[in-house]
Amino acid sequence: MKIAIASDHGGYALKQELLPYLASLGHTLVDMGCSGPESVDYPDYGIPCAEAVARGEAEAGLLICGTGIGISIAANKVKGIRCALCTDPVMARLCREHNDANMLALGGRIIGGELAKDIARVFFSTDFTGGRHQRRVDKIMDYDRNR
Ligand code: RB5
Repeated sequence: MKIAIASDHGGYALKQELLPYLASLGHTLVDMGCSGPESVDYPDYGIPCAEAVARGEAEAGLLICGTGIGISIAANKVKGIRCALCTDPVMARLCREHNDANMLALGGRIIGGELAKDIARVFFSTDFTGGRHQRRVDKIMDYDRNR
C-alpha cells in the first residue's frame, strides 16, 4: 500500500521508527515531514498530508503528533478524510472494518514504539467490512460533500 506519512516534532521520533518498519512490511512510504525534532505546527504537516490522501496520491495516511489529537482534528477538516486516532490494535481494526478510516493518527508522547507498530500493522492490513457500515459511512461522506 502507498502510505503518506507526516508528523510534527511531537511525533517525529515515532515517525522515524515507523518508516522502516512499514517499509519492511512491503508498504511504500511518502514522507511529508517534518524533518527534525525542532518545534513546528501540526496543521502545516497534517493538512497537506490529508490533502494528498484526498487527491488519491496515496491510498492511506499516517499522522503523528504528541497526542495524535491536534493532527487528527486538522486532517478531518479535509474533504474526503476519515482520520482515526487509535491507542490500541482493536481500535485500529474496528476503524478500518466499521468506519473505512483512510488515515491513522497516533500520539508519539502517548504510546510506545512497539504498540505503535502493532496498531499501524493492523490498520494498514485490515479491509472495510461494508454492509451496514457502508450506509453509515455514506451518511458522513454525503454531509462532507455538501457542506
Ligand atoms: C505540540 O507541543 C503538541 O501540542 C502537539 O504535538 C499535539 O499533541 C497537539 O495535539
